[in-house]
Amino acid sequence: MTARADPGKAVLAATRCDRTAAWAALAGHFQAHGRAFDLREAFARDPGRFESMSLEAPEVFADLSKNLVDAATLRFLADLARECGVEAQRDAMLAGAPVNNTEHRAVLHTALRAPRGGAPFGAEVHSVLDEMLAFAETVRERADGAASGRLRHVVNIGIGGSDLGPQMAVRALADVAHPGLSFHFVANVDGADLASVLARVTPPETLFIVASKTFTTQETMTNAESARAWFVAQGGTRIEDHFVAATSNVEAAARFGITRTFGFWDWVGGRYSLWSAIGLPIAIAIGADRFRELLAGARAMDEHFAHAPVERNVPMLLGLVDVWYRNFHGFTSRCIAPYAQALQRLPAYLQQLEMESNGKRVDRSGAPLPFATSPVVWGEPGTNAQHAYFQMLHQGSDTVPVEFILLGRSSAVASGISAEAVERQHRMLLANGLAQSQALMQGRASTDEPHRDFPGNRPSTTLLLASLTPRSLGALLALYEHRVFTSGAVWGIDSFDQWGVELGKTLGARLLPLLQSASAGVASADLDASTAGLLRRLGA
Ligand code: F6P
Repeated sequence: MTARADPGKAVLAATRCDRTAAWAALAGHFQAHGRAFDLREAFARDPGRFESMSLEAPEVFADLSKNLVDAATLRFLADLARECGVEAQRDAMLAGAPVNNTEHRAVLHTALRAPRGGAPFGAEVHSVLDEMLAFAETVRERADGAASGRLRHVVNIGIGGSDLGPQMAVRALADVAHPGLSFHFVANVDGADLASVLARVTPPETLFIVASKTFTTQETMTNAESARAWFVAQGGTRIEDHFVAATSNVEAAARFGITRTFGFWDWVGGRYSLWSAIGLPIAIAIGADRFRELLAGARAMDEHFAHAPVERNVPMLLGLVDVWYRNFHGFTSRCIAPYAQALQRLPAYLQQLEMESNGKRVDRSGAPLPFATSPVVWGEPGTNAQHAYFQMLHQGSDTVPVEFILLGRSSAVASGISAEAVERQHRMLLANGLAQSQALMQGRASTDEPHRDFPGNRPSTTLLLASLTPRSLGALLALYEHRVFTSGAVWGIDSFDQWGVELGKTLGARLLPLLQSASAGVASADLDASTAGLLRRLGA
C-alpha cells in the first residue's frame, strides 16, 4: 500500500533515525570531516559555494552557505530524510491522516490557507474565513465612523498560540495596519497585564476578542471574566457588540455570554492557529484582502514544501541542518536574529512553535529516545541583540548557530521620519546584519591579546525577504512550520501534542486554594519542604 493510499501507516512505520544507514554515514562523516570543518577553508576551496548552497523558496531566499556543511553532508541528510520517511509523513499530514497520534487528530493548518477544493474541510474553512473577514471589515468601518461611538481599540485576550501568533503578525504588519485602531494583547494571568491595557481604553471604544482554542485555559478565562466585569462596572453596554470569541469550543463561548463566535477545529494546533479565527486581530488590522495575501504566501510555501525535492526543499533542508547541529555537533540552541524591528515578537513566536512542538523525549509509540531533540530557540531583533549577547556568540565557549533575517526594503512607516532617513537607517541595519554573519564566520586572530581573539567558524543562516508584506510573512512562517515538522519527523516524535504543560497546570490548581485560604499550614503537610516553605513566606 502506498503512503498516499494509507498515509497514517507511513508515519508509524518510519525507521528510527539513529538506526538508518544515513545516520551511520553522517556519524562517520562527522568524525572524518564534520568536527574539524572550517567554513573559511570551504569558501576558499569552492568559489561556487554561495551559489550552490543558497536556495529560492517562495518569497524567501535562503543562504545556507555559512553553515558547517559540505555537499556530502547535505547528501547524507537528504538520505536521512528519505530513510525516515519524511516525505511520506509530510504527505500523510497534508492528506489529513491522524498524525497527531497521542491526541488522535489530523494536523491540517495547511488546509486553512488552501484554495477552495484544494485541501480537506474546504467548505467549513472558507465559510468561517469569509464570515470572519466580513466581520473584520465591519470592525474597520466602525473605526472609520463618526467620532462618537468610534472603535479605537482591539484587545485580544489569549495565551500561547492564541496570543503569540496574532501579536507577532499584527506588529510585523503595522505599516499596513488600520491607522485608527490600537491593538493590545493580554496574555498573563498577572493582573498587571490586563490592568495596564484597561487603563488606556474605554468600553464604548473597545472590542475584546477572547481567543482560546479550548475556552478553558485558566489565564484567558480569568482575564476575560475580569475584562467583562470591568466593562460592566465602567458602564459599558451591549456586551454583544464589544466581546467576540475565536474558539473551537463554541458552546463554552456561548455560556460565557458571547454571541458572536468564530469557530475552528481540533485539527488546528494552538501554535499553528494564526491562519484560523485566531487570526482575527490580524484580519482587523490589515483588512480582508491583505489577510488573504498572508494565507496565499503560506500556501505558496506549502506547495514548495509539498513538491520540491528534498535537495531543493528549503524548509526540509533547514530542518535537516538543525538535526545535524543538534545530534552530531551537539549544539544546544539556535539564535534568531531578525534585523527588523517589525519582527520583534518573531523569536517568542518561534520559541513556542519549535520548543512546544519538538521538546519531547519519547517517540510516537512512547519509547524513550536516546538522542537529543529540540534545541533552545531564542533571540531578539538586531541591532539591539548585538549590544546585549552577541559577545557570547562571537567569543563564548559554546557554538550557537544564528539565523539572520534580513529585509531588502525597510518596513518603517516613513511618516515619522523622512523617507531619506528610513533609507539611510535601513542600509545601516543591513550592514550590521551582514557584518555579524561575516564576523561569526571569519573571526579575527589575535595571538598576543587573547581577549581580542575571535575564533570564527561560527555558523549562520541568512533568510532574505525582498520586503515584509502579508505575503512574505505568510511564506516565512509556513517555512518555519515545515522546518519544525521536518526535524520532528526525523526524530520520530509527535510534534503536535503538548502534554508537557499538563503537570504544572494540575499542581497549580492544587496550590491555588492554599494561597486563597488560611488552611495552608494543614494542607502543606502533603507538600515538599521547599514549596511549603515558600508558601509560608508568602503568608499562605
Ligand atoms: O499550555 C499550552 C497550550 O495548550 C498551547 O498549546 C496553546 O497555544 C495555549 O495553551 C493556549 O490554549 P487555548 O488556545 O486553548 O487557550
